Amino acid sequence: MFKQNKLANENFLSILDITTEELIHILKVAKKIKNKELKIEFKDKVLGLIFDKASTRTRVSFQVAMSRIGGSTIDLNPTTSQIGRGEPIKDTARVLSRYCDVLAIRTFNHSDLEEYAKWSSKPVINALTDLEHPCQALADFLTIQEEFHDLRNVVLTFIGDGNNVANSLILCGALLGVEVRIACPKGHEPDPLVIKKAQQINNHETSLSILNDPNLAVKGSNVIYTDVWSSMGEESLKEEKDKKFRGFTVDSNLLKKADKNAIVLHCLPAYRSKEITEDVFESKNSRIFEQAENRMHAQQALLSCLIQ
Ligand code: CP
Ligand code: NVA
Repeated sequence: MFKQNKLANENFLSILDITTEELIHILKVAKKIKNKELKIEFKDKVLGLIFDKASTRTRVSFQVAMSRIGGSTIDLNPTTSQIGRGEPIKDTARVLSRYCDVLAIRTFNHSDLEEYAKWSSKPVINALTDLEHPCQALADFLTIQEEFHDLRNVVLTFIGDGNNVANSLILCGALLGVEVRIACPKGHEPDPLVIKKAQQINNHETSLSILNDPNLAVKGSNVIYTDVWSSMGEESLKEEKDKKFRGFTVDSNLLKKADKNAIVLHCLPAYRSKEITEDVFESKNSRIFEQAENRMHAQQALLSCLIQ
């Protein structure tokens, strides 16, 4: 199945690095892996992890995914490696890609990730930057697909900050022909280039809307998605953003306005009583922990496509 795989040895820095066909393929493989209909073996392959920011899910799901396919991971903590001392990315990338078969990197500036990719001789995976979180989006759409099967009539509404998670959801939604609505306070819209790209990919009138009213956005939605109001690196903006985002909490009133079978997603970690209330987080509509589990299956599928 992977012999003519066009993704082999390619980078996955953005959802834009894959085509609709490749995205559907990754989701299909992930589903098969999850259902134990497919077993991937990559004995002796090594994934190098570099995390400049905290992580639970991404780090552990990559570690477990690698171990399940017979490989292993090396977790390079920037504070104990020379990365923290400021060794240039181009040197680190050239060295690590001689040891490892694939690298997954979580950092701040997307341009730093691109610099790693430029100098690495092995595939580089975006494990979250300030611009995108594409691995998260793979798991999100795997979860949505498990619930609704046919994605064509699904309306996904993201309530909150137009951040990295929102950007990848928009692009993934565009590739899959899913209607995406973003409800955010003025001034916190998703990246303009991401919006432009999504509109170029899927240019139906209703394919993407950016709104400032969560009550309006949520009407008839099948998926309600939220994330923290202040992302990692925005700690100093927390107080100001908490005020600005009042009215954007996903609570039971908002949930009632969505489709009655709507599911609730959150990439985690979550701040209860800020972007989501405890009752909605724990409600029967929540698929948050299925979504977290799916990180592992989706990344195993991704690795199986990228590793040669
Ligand atoms: N959703 C997510 O990426 O979680 P972590 O920050 O724990 O990896
Ligand atoms: N938007 C969040 C996602 C965390 C998984 C952040 O970047 O901190």
